[in-house]
Amino acid sequence: MLEIRGLTASIGEKPILKGIDLVVPDGEVHAIMGPNGSGKSTLGYVLSGRDDYTVTGGSVTFNGIDLLDMEPEARAAAGVFLAFQAPIELPGVNNANFLRTALNAIRRAHGESELDAIQFLKLARAETKRLAMPDDMLKRNVNVGFSGGEKKRNEVLQMALLRPKLAILDETDSGLDIDALKIVADGVNALRSPTFSALVVTHHQRLLDHLVPNRVHVLAHGRIIRSGGPELAKELEKSGYADVLAAAA
Ligand SMILES: Nc1ncnc2c1ncn2[C@@H]1O[C@H](COP(=O)(O)OP(=O)(O)O)[C@@H](O)[C@H]1O
Ligand SMILES: [Mg+2]
Repeated sequence: MLEIRGLTASIGEKPILKGIDLVVPDGEVHAIMGPNGSGKSTLGYVLSGRDDYTVTGGSVTFNGIDLLDMEPEARAAAGVFLAFQAPIELPGVNNANFLRTALNAIRRAHGESELDAIQFLKLARAETKRLAMPDDMLKRNVNVGFSGGEKKRNEVLQMALLRPKLAILDETDSGLDIDALKIVADGVNALRSPTFSALVVTHHQRLLDHLVPNRVHVLAHGRIIRSGGPELAKELEKSGYADVLAAAA
């Protein structure tokens, strides 16, 4: 279970998160929606431990352990996975090697044996096949020259291989076609289990058609101003954020 209590965070001197309270029980998928600039990406980065963000108050625990106290690598080893809004490109870094390094770091942290290149490729090919992704994505450099949809597929592949307990997905607002949305949704749905939970940042009701969330939260001006069931996303799609913002003001 992810438990966020009174979380406040700043970028430099600028307060961005102004008291976030959010609980995601095991086995549940929660969506975060909200206007641009409200702090959605900041929340994802703070949870993953990116260092330009300063936590100024509150707490975040995952299965009872204090996430904020942990280095990003330790968070990954604890099963936290973040898919970035803008995935980084790594010229000269082979995608299969990159994915194997990430997986082996987690396996080492759990006292499991590392996979050699052959063992890893066997596993990775099984996943690419299951996810209907072309094999050559493993041979290319990480995200270099990947289309928006391919970058999303690559994140889903990474998630499928790392088998996180908590996935935080921060979607790009534009450039995702319907197929790419479905890939992301299917990737999360494939991992759904009583010991997996996800926090999905999205503007797309279409994504939520494929990935029916247990709860939907609206983040605005650094606070969660409204929470509801999947019908809240539908309501927002119809009437926009104005009513919800006005009701919270
Ligand atoms: N590196 C940065 N330096 C200063 N302000 C930033 C930086 N990154 C984001 N912000 C500001 O933080 C606020 C929240 O941004 P963000 O978390 O990206 O919002 P969202 O993902 O909801 O669109 C915005 O006002 C944005 O301008
Ligand atoms: Mg964002």
